[in-house]
Amino acid sequence: MSAALTAEGLHVYYGKSHILHGVSLEAAEGQVTALLGRNGAGKTTTLRSLMGLTAPRQGRVTVFGADTTRWPPFRVAALGVGYVPEGRRIFPNLTVDENLIVPLARPGPWTPASVCRLFPRLAERRASRGRQLSGGEQEMLAIARALLLNPKLLILDEPSQGLAPLITREVFRIVVQMRAQGISVLLVEQNVRMSLEIADYAYVLDDGQVVYSGPARELAADAARVQSLAGASAGEWTAQ
Ligand SMILES: Nc1ncnc2c1ncn2[C@@H]1O[C@H](COP(=O)(O)OP(=O)(O)OP(=O)(O)O)[C@@H](O)[C@H]1O
Ligand SMILES: [Mg+2]
Repeated sequence: MSAALTAEGLHVYYGKSHILHGVSLEAAEGQVTALLGRNGAGKTTTLRSLMGLTAPRQGRVTVFGADTTRWPPFRVAALGVGYVPEGRRIFPNLTVDENLIVPLARPGPWTPASVCRLFPRLAERRASRGRQLSGGEQEMLAIARALLLNPKLLILDEPSQGLAPLITREVFRIVVQMRAQGISVLLVEQNVRMSLEIADYAYVLDDGQVVYSGPARELAADAARVQSLAGASAGEWTAQ
């Protein structure tokens, strides 16, 4: 199976703090890859270095076969990589419609009209400003905006954060739908149980290192392992 994205031996620093200690991972084409781990494990930092937002001091990133290690984010995006950052980052003072005017649109099935069909709720709220939307609506808007790039690879950083369980299900359903359309997905999540249900492959990060990698089904079957690896998320695992 070919890889949509690979990271090899990433070392990332914030100033003098050494955050990632040689992270290697792969997002296989046409699959959902979950990247899990406790708070502060380095998940967001990993995604930032994959997108070119935080340059690794050592290591290599390839996206669809191109060495993108020192590329700026807009060049990585232009390869067809959609990124939905942690905390959504929509424009609070712009309307839904205005938020959907993106600087980099790639031709393909996703247009403002088709994302509104995917998220009918957004269509109803087109004239509302970003800040007037609920958390779930903001997440949908952030995903919709990433889809307008017609990504071949979609990178999501905790899309279910702060969402009600029903909306969370909806977001996960969309991820499954993306895969069915041939989009590769790299998913960072605190919701371990639901991530492992939909993912094909899983990595667990701890303290800036990969401490587990294997088929998602294998990890899901080992509750004790999930608890020891994913820390805070273990409560969720048993509670649901
Ligand atoms: N801008 C920054 N400057 C210095 N340290 C940072 C910065 N951003 C994150 N860190 C530190 O880097 C480590 C990894 O943070 P990161 O945000 O990548 O973790 P995470 O796995 O995404 O956590 P969370 O689940 O809380 O989102 C943490 O110890 C964090 O405190
Ligand atoms: Mg994070």
